[in-house]
Amino acid sequence: MITPSPELVARSRVCRFIEPFLGTPVWPPPVWLMRQAGRYLPEYREVRAEAGSFLDLCYNPELAARVTLQPIERYGFDAAILFADILVVPDALGQRVDFVEGEGPRLEAITSEAGLAALDPAAAERKYEIIWDTVQRIRQDLPQHVGLIGFCGAPWTVATYMVGGRGSPDQAAARLWAYRDPEGFERLIDVLTETSITYLAGQARAGADVLKIFDSWAGSLPSGQFERWVVQPTRRIIAGLRKQGIEAPVIGFPRGTSARARRYAEQTRADGLACDTVMSVGMMKRLAEGRVVQGNLDPLVLVAGGAALEDRVRIILDGMRGKPFIFNLGHGIVPQTPPENVARLMELIRSEGA
Ligand code: CP3
Repeated sequence: MITPSPELVARSRVCRFIEPFLGTPVWPPPVWLMRQAGRYLPEYREVRAEAGSFLDLCYNPELAARVTLQPIERYGFDAAILFADILVVPDALGQRVDFVEGEGPRLEAITSEAGLAALDPAAAERKYEIIWDTVQRIRQDLPQHVGLIGFCGAPWTVATYMVGGRGSPDQAAARLWAYRDPEGFERLIDVLTETSITYLAGQARAGADVLKIFDSWAGSLPSGQFERWVVQPTRRIIAGLRKQGIEAPVIGFPRGTSARARRYAEQTRADGLACDTVMSVGMMKRLAEGRVVQGNLDPLVLVAGGAALEDRVRIILDGMRGKPFIFNLGHGIVPQTPPENVARLMELIRSEGA
């Protein structure tokens, strides 16, 4: 657990989302949902249509702040997450990034060291200013008792998109570059690590209470590669933030790593561990010693609703009671989620006795 400054202690007194990070379990647990602002909400689809492209929305502080607040207004979550995307970083660095309707992201792939020359971290900072402005606006509009989460993608996960040019089931392009030319690939990871420190530090200074590092594809690497491309860069990001005096708690999300999650948490010094849908409640409970655990309802349970939802929420709550725990999904909410099922989830959690 972190040794908090008086400012962080004072903040935790008004914001229950921060309390577990100071070692105080709160019950019912704080709750927010990955991708809580998104296409399952009609009010999001409206603003999205007004904004033009998805990236236009990410770089529009007024509209991005507005959609960040939508799920808070509708459901009263304990934390808001900045509305942006992990692929803002490659875009800001100068790589071409498009979000194709119904297909997902498309990037002009960088497959060798030669492609790195065009990446421009100084130019990236100018684009980060827009996102930092969004964070400031959200903080102003958000009630004080609601936490604000800033985020970035982990270098490995962002690199899989930069190298593959799109999402892929096996991240083969990035894995191959890393095997064939580890020094070259390391330079890409280094650029991403350094720029992520700048990006996250700016978000914390602009008012983010907690920072989250999404490593959605951490599970595709064998041992050795996992240490080098997932654990080490994340450890450097967190150490880099601390060196700059940023004390905001950091949540890591090493998706798909099951038994390796403990080593990840210990070696990166993440203050919180976001658990995917596959992690057992028993393991989450054991991991919730000396750190906050967050998770791990299957997003499809939230689509199904009914008995499946009631049962699974019960199992998670019973297992995690008394632990430093934050209720969440094990991955992002999906567009076909009925909004009323999210309301039911909130009822189930909030009706828990203290
Ligand atoms: O509400 C929030 O959680 C905040 C905003 C947020 C988005 N993406 C908005 C978004 C966050 C934190 C992300 C993270 C993200 N983005 C990850 C890591 C988490 C995970 O899901 O594993 C990844 C891998 C991405 C990359 C990405 N962005 C993909 C693959 C896609 C296309 C698939 C899809 O869901 O459409 C996106 C698009 C995206 N990012 C949307 C939203 C709301 C949908 C685009 C739209 O509205 O048109």
